Amino acid sequence: MKLDVPRFTERFGSVSLHGVQRVYELDSGHKNKNTKTESEVIRSIDDEIISKIEAEMAIVIPIKGERLKLLEGVLSGIPHDCLTIIVSNSPREPIDRYKLEKQAFEQFNRFTEKKSVIIHQKDPGLAKALEAVDYPDLFDSEGKIRNGKGEGMFIGMLLSKMMGKKYVGFVDSDNYVPGAVNEYTKIFSSGIALSSTPYTMVRVSWIYKPKISESGVRFSKLGRVSEMTNQFLNLMISYYTGFETEVIRTGNSGEHCMSVQLAELLTYSSGFSIEPYEIVNLLEQFGGITPPEHKDTMEKGVEVMQIETRNPHFHEEKGDLHIKEMFSQGWGSIFHSKLCHPELREKLKAELVSRGILDKVKEPPQLPKMRPFIDIDILKFEKILKEQTNSLTIFE
Ligand code: GDD
Repeated sequence: MKLDVPRFTERFGSVSLHGVQRVYELDSGHKNKNTKTESEVIRSIDDEIISKIEAEMAIVIPIKGERLKLLEGVLSGIPHDCLTIIVSNSPREPIDRYKLEKQAFEQFNRFTEKKSVIIHQKDPGLAKALEAVDYPDLFDSEGKIRNGKGEGMFIGMLLSKMMGKKYVGFVDSDNYVPGAVNEYTKIFSSGIALSSTPYTMVRVSWIYKPKISESGVRFSKLGRVSEMTNQFLNLMISYYTGFETEVIRTGNSGEHCMSVQLAELLTYSSGFSIEPYEIVNLLEQFGGITPPEHKDTMEKGVEVMQIETRNPHFHEEKGDLHIKEMFSQGWGSIFHSKLCHPELREKLKAELVSRGILDKVKEPPQLPKMRPFIDIDILKFEKILKEQTNSLTIFE
């Protein structure tokens, strides 16, 4: 992959937030034969480097009741050497959708001979394993694992660590274009290759999120609401630094990856607030505002890269209500952060009220948090999970 290096960087404590980088070639060839095209500002990440990183990476696919045809397409876009992990929260009644997903996955794996893992989010054995390692943060009031995309991603991260992976990436299961999924994974590896710290996050910025209507396809950029999430995150930074910024372009990006070394240090927010809160928590923990807990991370620094795709993002549209829920969750995670300036809180509230999402007198919801998994005894977790599970399947 050939891409440019970041043009500018906002530094917030030990966190370097890089501006959006552009991809010039999806495939820049085998090794750097042609060094003429290399420069200080353009980098080629050759296929050998990408393959090496892919072998160390798990790709987590959270899924809840999506069409199987879409899932099959997504699976075909994931590089062979990545470990695919499906975390499903699909209904098991009246039709067992998880069983259908597993059958489709099994069939796919038979032909591709691919290493992969599938689990159901509500597996009671998974809950027992979490209980055994003293990690109740995923449980609802009845002691069962909650619904939520963030919860699914968290389980995927734990399984990535359990399977010995160094990097963990996420792609949604409702993508119509397998080639785009493949590009996301190449972007993940290229970002990691460019990074100069073991604490890395790479976020995908979609070039277009097209809208299809009777009059044709419109290649629009980000939706207005995603723009607002970015604006709020940028304002959060500006209130601290005193300088306005537009650096954040990927506040809602479901497609992103991290080194497990960074992933295990973060606190996560439930459901659809997970993506914006990752940025908030990075700044809360490593922004130099509170005394640092992790000296090595502070010394080596955290890098956040944002890389713009060449493929447009075509995915399943879920309707207005879903969008409202998603953004009140995401904005709520910014609102309740200790980094959120009181003026920004007012702006957030006003926006939610004007969209009819929030009552004037109320505050956006504060969703449950999931603490860092660095201290979870992963060997004990694995042992209990394998003994107690009724859904985990590992395809070797
Ligand atoms: N395991 C699991 N558990 N997966 C879930 C759950 C859950 O409770 N809820 C949703 N998913 C899966 C969906 O099946 C899909 O693969 C993915 O999570 C994203 O959910 P969607 O419902 O399709 O969300 P979206 O497409 O509207 O929003 C996506 O893009 C946003 C940015 O535009 C998500 O990735 C958001 O997180 C993101 O902010």
